[in-house]
Amino acid sequence: MPHYCTLIPGDGIGPEVSQAAVRALSATGVDIVWKRAELNEAIILESGKTLPKYLLDSLNETRVGLKGPVTTPVAGGFQSVNVQLRKTLDLFANVRPVKTLPGLKTRFQDVAIDMVIFRENTEDLYSGLEHEVVKDVVTSLKVITRVASERIANYAFNYARLNNRTHVAAIHKANIMKLADGLFLRCCRETAAKFPEIHYKELIVDNASMQLVIRPETFDLLLLPNLYGDIISDLAAGLVGGLGIVPGANMGEHHAVFEAVHGSAPDIAGQGKANPTAMILSSVMLLTHIGEKDAAHRLQSAVEKVYAEGKYLTGDVGGASSTIEFTDAVVRALKD
Ligand code: NAI
Repeated sequence: MPHYCTLIPGDGIGPEVSQAAVRALSATGVDIVWKRAELNEAIILESGKTLPKYLLDSLNETRVGLKGPVTTPVAGGFQSVNVQLRKTLDLFANVRPVKTLPGLKTRFQDVAIDMVIFRENTEDLYSGLEHEVVKDVVTSLKVITRVASERIANYAFNYARLNNRTHVAAIHKANIMKLADGLFLRCCRETAAKFPEIHYKELIVDNASMQLVIRPETFDLLLLPNLYGDIISDLAAGLVGGLGIVPGANMGEHHAVFEAVHGSAPDIAGQGKANPTAMILSSVMLLTHIGEKDAAHRLQSAVEKVYAEGKYLTGDVGGASSTIEFTDAVVRALKD
């Protein structure tokens, strides 16, 4: 029986890296039938809809998506497609494994980094509730609820238990946002009490940022509300070589959408320079989710082999190869 998955190529570098991921997935031999759903800035502007019906229908049918990045205009224009999609399908857990790749030269190459970020995905300052009280005075609502905080905390601790992870660090700013981050923290503490075998600690987000740079190897699982999770994800990506290599998953009760941490990278779009690693490793997460664990393992190993050899890397990680040359190398490594 084939697996049915929705493919949302996105825009900017999205179509290039999505194409690479589809090729790599096909080379694993797993039978995936793709339902393609286009979504990009041009379609949104023309239709006036950030989430077209065909896209939601497709995801409701397949329940699994592989998504490229979609451009969001800055300081105006339409609301983020990504935020809307996560809220509409209630994709409450954003899971981002950040791991050192073998052989890759980075500023932190001497330490083995292996952490997983759990970012609450549906609320916080991403509520989109902004209001100009009077001219030049704006408020932006930060929404934190017990339901959402407990859900992400439970997800992270359960992941730790199932994957033999030993430490969870909740990241907050409850010294200042005593009510909002205070509630988030209370939910994390109550959840931690149900998992006595897992070490639990708390870090204020500014200190956590510094600790991540000074001793990144000491972090295991990170548990964060939406905004800190977004920012810390990019910081963590920088520790292991940049945005080109960090994958992600948006998990809900009924749907899962896999996408890289990076955005549409308009500065390099259409030039064949984009690093498809993050999308390919997001596909590894997709394979695991659909029960194809052996293929997931083979694809992960193929990517690691290409990095260990270091001959076909893209420019962002110090190589000179194109998106296609890197993907060719992964496909060859899979067949070896
Ligand atoms: P970005 O992640 O697109 O790019 C930041 C920097 O990293 C750029 O220099 C870019 O060239 C580089 N980069 C990113 N991915 C790369 C890759 N695979 N290979 C090589 N280099 C890579 O962030 P930026 O520029 O802040 O955002 C651009 C657009 O993407 C915005 O409209 C933003 O809203 C959107 N975005 C969409 C996301 C999504 O769809 N999930 C996530 C983040 C941003």
